[in-house]
Amino acid sequence: MKGFFITGTDTGIGKTVLAGWLLAHMRGQGIDVVPMKPVQTGCEIRRGRIVAPDLEFCLRAAKLDPNEEERSLMCPYRYKPACSPHLAAGIEGRPIRIPRIMQAFQRLAERHDAVIVEGAGGILVPLNRRSTLLDLIQKIRLPVLIATRPGLGTLNHTFLTINELRRAGCAMAGIVIVESGPPARDAIERDNRKTLARTGIPVLGRLKYRSGISPEHVRCLDADNLARNI
Ligand SMILES: Nc1ncnc2c1ncn2[C@@H]1O[C@H](COP(=O)(O)OP(=O)(O)OP(=O)(O)O)[C@@H](O)[C@H]1O
Ligand SMILES: [Mg+2]
Repeated sequence: MKGFFITGTDTGIGKTVLAGWLLAHMRGQGIDVVPMKPVQTGCEIRRGRIVAPDLEFCLRAAKLDPNEEERSLMCPYRYKPACSPHLAAGIEGRPIRIPRIMQAFQRLAERHDAVIVEGAGGILVPLNRRSTLLDLIQKIRLPVLIATRPGLGTLNHTFLTINELRRAGCAMAGIVIVESGPPARDAIERDNRKTLARTGIPVLGRLKYRSGISPEHVRCLDADNLARNI
């Protein structure tokens, strides 16, 4: 057990909420699991420090408060512009290097039982001129969890993601449907769930919508069968 790589079919799909839920669930089982967000754009400055919001959400969900050295391993690349990683890196003149991310990941994996790594956007998001997030997923070699929307449009996006991961030889742990907005729970959503399962990649569960979700309450989300399947 060394964790999961959480990707999604888009930005804002529910990756961080899923990561927070998993951290809370696994830590509740006595597993020393920690979060990693290798690249964060849209960071804020708080008390002179550059703060990565997704990492802080996950740390609060996991009830962890590591020191600055460990926080920098958990999020080695932090940028202020709220845009694609390669663009933020270009604006700030600090290019993203996959070997540096791998070093930070190895250090965390040595210190802890497992690491939950959250990507940025979807799998073909560029990190620099040559590499995309998929190159990082290939190197990290963690089983991939795909966060996906329940409604219209999810089939195409999820199939494209699975095809690319398959072509790259990445192991997939499963699909998790995340209701990041009020769900319709209609015939389309019911059929989507069945049709997604036709990919051969299991649909592990569905994180249900709860308005005003906070890191402290993410563990209380109705997770369908996720706890049993993970
Ligand atoms: N189950 C849920 N109930 C209520 N709100 C949710 C739920 N899941 C996600 N959200 C909301 O949807 C929005 C997007 O979720 P989240 O930040 O997890 O997406 P993401 O894929 O991590 O985005 P990014 O690509 O920016 O990292 C957030 O405002 C979050 O609070
Ligand atoms: Mg996120």
